[in-house]
Amino acid sequence: MATTPDTAKPPTKPLSLPLYVRGTVVKGLGRGNKDLGIPTANLDDGAIASLPSDFDNGIYYGWASVDRTDVHKMVMSVGYNPHYGNRKKSMEAHLIHEFPEDFYGSELSIVVVDFLRDEKSFPSLEALIAAIHADINGASINLDRNDKYLKIKQSPFFQRETTKEEEGTTDAVPAST
Ligand SMILES: Cc1cc2nc3c(=O)[nH]c(=O)nc-3n(C[C@H](O)[C@H](O)[C@H](O)COP(=O)(O)O)c2cc1C
Repeated sequence: MATTPDTAKPPTKPLSLPLYVRGTVVKGLGRGNKDLGIPTANLDDGAIASLPSDFDNGIYYGWASVDRTDVHKMVMSVGYNPHYGNRKKSMEAHLIHEFPEDFYGSELSIVVVDFLRDEKSFPSLEALIAAIHADINGASINLDRNDKYLKIKQSPFFQRETTKEEEGTTDAVPAST
């Protein structure tokens, strides 16, 4: 029988938090929106491979920005989704914001600030959905309450590099006196 890769190991809190990670949004298995009513943005394999070795599977939270526009609260699952017994590791973020449309192919910038819990298999789909809603509420409250986390939201990591034209400094000639 096929076995799910090891998810039972108790996570050690990563030393590498906050963790800054960027990737491209790719198609997941499509269950987030359809089964759960909770859309998730799946990151590409390169982003998953870039995770530090002490970054255990689990549920995390922090901030995220699509194409370096607005920064939103986010909750994120990293691992094999034991409820579904996936064979492939995924890293998927739910951004706490209503987007008018999908953003596959966009750049997603994420700062993970803290660990919430282990990934689990639940007795029912409803129980998984309830757990994710509790994650969202808990993460949202913690992000608002913690000045250290609020400061990270302002990180230059989320800012687009501006061109000289945008800064209005191109060919600027100092006025002669
Ligand atoms: C905050 C959060 C918590 C999650 N917790 C679990 C979990 O405990 N167990 C699990 O199997 N999957 C968990 N997931 C992953 C969902 O099962 C997954 O997002 C959903 O199946 C959609 O996957 P897809 O985009 O590949 O279709 C969680 C996802 C999020 C965003």
